[in-house]
Amino acid sequence: MQGQALPGFRDFFPAEAALRQHIFAVWREVASRYGFEEYDGPPLEALELYTDKSGEEIVGQLYEFEDRGGRRVALRPEMTPTLARMVASRAQALKKPIRWFAIPQLFRYERQQRGRLREHFQLNMDLLGEPGPLADAEVIAAALDVLRALGFGPDAVRVRLSDRRVLRALLAHAGVSDPQLPAAYAAIDKIDREPREVLEARLAKLGLAEPVIAATLAVGNVRGREPFRAALASLPDGGEVADPLVECVAALDAMQLGAFVDVDLSIVRGLAYYTGIVFELFDAGRSLRAICGGGRYDGLLTALGGPDLPAVGFGMGDVVLGELLAERGIHPAGAAGLQAFLVGVTAEDTETVLALAHRLRDTGIRVEFALKAQSVGKQLKLAAARNAPRAVIVGPDERAAGEALVRDLGTGTEARVAFDRLNDVLAQQ
Ligand code: HAM
Repeated sequence: MQGQALPGFRDFFPAEAALRQHIFAVWREVASRYGFEEYDGPPLEALELYTDKSGEEIVGQLYEFEDRGGRRVALRPEMTPTLARMVASRAQALKKPIRWFAIPQLFRYERQQRGRLREHFQLNMDLLGEPGPLADAEVIAAALDVLRALGFGPDAVRVRLSDRRVLRALLAHAGVSDPQLPAAYAAIDKIDREPREVLEARLAKLGLAEPVIAATLAVGNVRGREPFRAALASLPDGGEVADPLVECVAALDAMQLGAFVDVDLSIVRGLAYYTGIVFELFDAGRSLRAICGGGRYDGLLTALGGPDLPAVGFGMGDVVLGELLAERGIHPAGAAGLQAFLVGVTAEDTETVLALAHRLRDTGIRVEFALKAQSVGKQLKLAAARNAPRAVIVGPDERAAGEALVRDLGTGTEARVAFDRLNDVLAQQ
């Protein structure tokens, strides 16, 4: 047991760290293309921040404890409450709309399975201060652009979109009362994961009549733009409530991202704070959990004692993305390799090797040398093992002449190079 990380926690050996860096680099690059600024918060927060606002599922998975000062605290399971708390504390001073992103490590005591761990990193992109659907389209487009930048097209990745305002209107029309709404949402959320009889039984327990149950599940089964339009037509106001969702989809079409988009009313999202458009990105084969989930949460800042600021955003995990990249055989290269390995012929050459190595490193050249006195043969073996393309050999004769012997370890060719020209020669690779 001692040789292993805790269940659901990862060791990042260099190959895994390289994959993580690759994902983070794409996240940062896309976020900056959209004009988002990076922020961060503490990994440990007051427990109430989550018990009040996140919803049962996440609260049941908290790593929570009492600290030495007697405070009830929790490791952050998600970033949104921290973001809302931070923005609420400075809302007047911040220029709107606020476009912020973060890459926090999050902790949830989940049952470990493929794509689901007890810690993960999550790109969060949130846009605050804009209630209109172009803000929703903007963050959805950013999420899709991350996937496009990683090499995935609409055949590989889908975004499924819904809107809780539309769901509420359709469910009310179907005969679901406001107090019954959370249970109806929960049933619709599980429509693809649980047998119909189980969902029917659960809704019947709430006192819903058979036709209402059937109508509720029919709402959750509305998938695709045409069935969506038909469902709206049944509403008394002709579906005005769906205007934001329709405009959001039109904006994504205008950005040439429409091929990724499925309107899908089975998307509800587990978190309690969503108030409008909700969405999830999945691999097209649906073999993994969601890659990304998000939506509009216009009430969260006021609920935390802050100003009335509309907000929309998403979280995208590194675990599912990593699995998808591995499935496609994408293994990003690790850190840039060495440019040269410095070799001292005698013990007296060590000082010169150290001085040269340090000067080369100061100019950005990646070099190593043996950390103890060794034969030239052993040093060259080490150079090969470290994949150095060249050896820079310094012996008494070279020192006297102020130059080194640069050997190409691939071809075996050699050239004498003055010490002060070494960085120019080694930079050409
Ligand atoms: P979430 O749906 O709980 O949303 O998480 C977002 C994404 O994080 C998931 O789609 C999944 O890729 C990843 N994820 C979540 N839990 C795990 C886990 N245990 N192991 C691996 N990956 C996981 C939120 O957290 C919201 N706060 C997102 C948000 C931001 N909404 C608005 N702004």
